Amino acid sequence: MKVQNPKLEITAVKLEQYPSMDKPEIALAGRSNVGKSSFINTLIERKGLARTSGQPGKTQTLNFYNMDDKFRFVDVPGYGYAKVSKTDRARWAKMITEYLTNRDNLVTLLLLMDFRHEPTELDIQMKEFADELDIPYAIVLTKVDKIKRSQRNKHISMFTKKLELPTSDALFLFSSETAEGKEDIWEVIESQIN
Ligand code: GTP
Ligand code: MG
Repeated sequence: MKVQNPKLEITAVKLEQYPSMDKPEIALAGRSNVGKSSFINTLIERKGLARTSGQPGKTQTLNFYNMDDKFRFVDVPGYGYAKVSKTDRARWAKMITEYLTNRDNLVTLLLLMDFRHEPTELDIQMKEFADELDIPYAIVLTKVDKIKRSQRNKHISMFTKKLELPTSDALFLFSSETAEGKEDIWEVIESQIN
């Protein structure tokens, strides 16, 4: 799919501010710095639409990106950043829970995890939360460009096991650096929004 006119439609911190549920939404969750904003930019081939940063915690609001009026990407603030206060952590938990439990037009949750490292406790909890809420999800393993090809299978097995997945089918290897995996993810998205 080629997006012609992607736009940041709304930034929101609470339910009352969300756009109407008139289009399907694909939300992105993952720990700070995992590459959520880069992922959006890579898919739509726009370098600077979603703000990225070397410093974790860049995205602080739910950012609703309208993709040619066909669907929205929802960039969710990252979790697990150590230097975040308890209050901010609670605010984050409330914001994501409110979004995930109220959005009937949420068609898929993309859970982004860093391919280089074992999933964190919070990564595992997010996946379990999606299971509990019965939200369809795919797991996008980012930064695969940083791992040698010969090591890939080992990492895939590790994720399958740690996330207690029946098979590795829900895992998608991805790199914003090389755009590897982009087409496979578009297929997932297209199958969900049509
Ligand atoms: P928050 O908004 O803080 O939650 O972070 P984020 O998940 O949106 O991460 P972001 O896209 O801002 O990327 C964080 C850093 O990782 C940036 O320096 C990116 O250039 C880098 N990065 C993201 N994806 C990749 C990737 O696939 N490969 C490599 N090598 N670097 C990446
Ligand atoms: Mg971000």
